[in-house]
Amino acid sequence: MSLTREQLQEAAEKFGTPLFVYDADRIAGCYRALFDFIRYPGLKIHYAMKANYNVHILQLLQQLGASIDAVSPGDVLLAQRAGFPIDRILFTANNMTETEMAAVHQSGVLMNIGELSRLEKFGRAFPGSRVCIRFNPDVRDGDSAKTMTGGDLTKFGILLQEADHVRDLAARYNLKVVGLHEHTGSGLQHTESVFQSMKNLMAVATPERFPDLEFLDFGGGFKVPYHPDEARVDYVTMGAEITRLFTAFCRSYGRELGMYFEPGKYMVAESGYLLMTVNTIKDNNGRLIAGCNSGFPQLIRPVLYNSYHHILNLGNPDGTPHRYDVCGNICETGDLFAEQRELPEIREGDLLAIANAGAYCYSMGSCYNLRPMPAEAMYRDGQLQLVRRRLSNEELVAQIIGESLCPR
Ligand code: LLP
Repeated sequence: MSLTREQLQEAAEKFGTPLFVYDADRIAGCYRALFDFIRYPGLKIHYAMKANYNVHILQLLQQLGASIDAVSPGDVLLAQRAGFPIDRILFTANNMTETEMAAVHQSGVLMNIGELSRLEKFGRAFPGSRVCIRFNPDVRDGDSAKTMTGGDLTKFGILLQEADHVRDLAARYNLKVVGLHEHTGSGLQHTESVFQSMKNLMAVATPERFPDLEFLDFGGGFKVPYHPDEARVDYVTMGAEITRLFTAFCRSYGRELGMYFEPGKYMVAESGYLLMTVNTIKDNNGRLIAGCNSGFPQLIRPVLYNSYHHILNLGNPDGTPHRYDVCGNICETGDLFAEQRELPEIREGDLLAIANAGAYCYSMGSCYNLRPMPAEAMYRDGQLQLVRRRLSNEELVAQIIGESLCPR
């Protein structure tokens, strides 16, 4: 466990539930560890801020020297406000509009383009610019079909076989292709997929075709265990192989290039918890249902991807185990964090913690059923602080009315 039971209880007592709590020291540790695993001098880590865009997390990583993987103009703006200089942001949107393209390009942020038609429009609008090209690595892996991004069944990236077409388009508009990019998927199950995707991208990255390369970006996807029985990836061995492959590539390319990765989950998943309080225990003919004061709009991964998230009963850790449906407060039957999960006896009022809630939980949240998102708190150097407050119901409703065109 990243934070102790006492720390989580302290946070719940201080700020109430539902509440996200993060461990800043662990996030910093994950960032630093990558440089131990991958010992390549030109390594740059572009944090995938879609995983968790809390400004305090962004600022922490900014201070550590990280860069950013941004996927929308909103991401770019927030990253800049958090202190990231434009040359540490790479913009990887898909299906962007002309307005988005122009706004981001004018801000000076490097654009990563994954469609031939967009590359053509970019070239026509901004001839002579620097650009990064996103290729589809043609490797299928990920922790859910919904998070696999490689292969021609997905919408992402330009197919590798189009590499010459990319070269020709770039030449037509005098574009300088300074980077090539791929992202295979999230929660990659096999380290071999990382290596294969790297090899596939490196195979098209010849100096004849792309002579101006400054970096190759191999995306994110580094897996972390969600289930206690799940093995942790041997990142030391994986990192050594990554370094070996890339060093050999640079030798054949003719000079040392930058090597980028864009981890999101790896950086923040395990540092976060969602704390919630059990309001109701129901016994439906022997099926025990624990009803909590959060719901799937606040942590949607189990519902959307069928993901396992470990749950701790902090209120009664030594209770006799029973099986529970752990559900939320949303008016939908599918509003479950876990089905028939064995947990120490849950009583009304108990505090539950959902683990691995640091990545793609708050950031995928919504106010469905009109409940404001939980507050977010953070431990940094042992100090607990509130890093985003929860809106009151009045503020949420005022915001809705304020945004409505015909307020009455
Ligand atoms: N780079 C690109 C271009 C991406 O699309 C993504 C994730 C990443 C990097 C970071 O991947 P990571 O290291 O976090 O696996 N909501 C899903 C994950 C969606 C990932 C989308 N793209 C989940 O909760 O599992």
